Amino acid sequence: MAISGGDACHRRLAAATVIVTLTWTTGCSERTSAPPVSLMPPIADVPVGPVPGGVREDRSVLGNPVAGDPDALRDGRAFFVAYNCSGCHGDHGGGGMGPSLRDASWIYGGSAAEIANSVVQGRAHGMPAWGTRLTPEQVWQIVAYLGSMRTPREPDPPAGG
Ligand code: HEC
Repeated sequence: MAISGGDACHRRLAAATVIVTLTWTTGCSERTSAPPVSLMPPIADVPVGPVPGGVREDRSVLGNPVAGDPDALRDGRAFFVAYNCSGCHGDHGGGGMGPSLRDASWIYGGSAAEIANSVVQGRAHGMPAWGTRLTPEQVWQIVAYLGSMRTPREPDPPAGG
């Protein structure tokens, strides 16, 4: 017992040495070099800031080929009901057995690509994968609809918003 305890102590010491070395190296490079330009987000991903009136920020338009098309929003709403997304997420996405898609928080990210991934691939805790049942255009229409929720562009909004 005494020997193995000594080993463990030695290992901890070695680990501490590595951490100290890493910290020292990082600290050194921070002092000597400016942050690399690649850390800057691409221009297209920079949010435009809060919309006057306090509506939810809609990141689902970025990279969505049907963004801004009112027909796409209506079709997305129709598919949301037809494919029974509403059965798990609520009639207007407000939440049920599945999480709310109306509120500002996303478990798996709220950008167009992230929402599309959630729909196409499914998610671990009870979200089915729809990639084989929806065309890519239908996915984008649904993503556009989800992004329009709680904005003035939302088709067929629930009573009281
Ligand atoms: C059988 C119930 C069920 C159905 C039907 C369903 N979902 Fe889900 N969905 C869930 C659950 C549960 C989660 C949370 C999964 C997790 O936490 O891993 C989820 C997660 C999601 C997410 C990610 C949410 C986040 O916060 O990141 C999106 C987007 C989504 N669903 C959209 C849809 C769409 C669009 C449809 C219809 C095409 C649909 N869902 C149909 C149960 C369902």
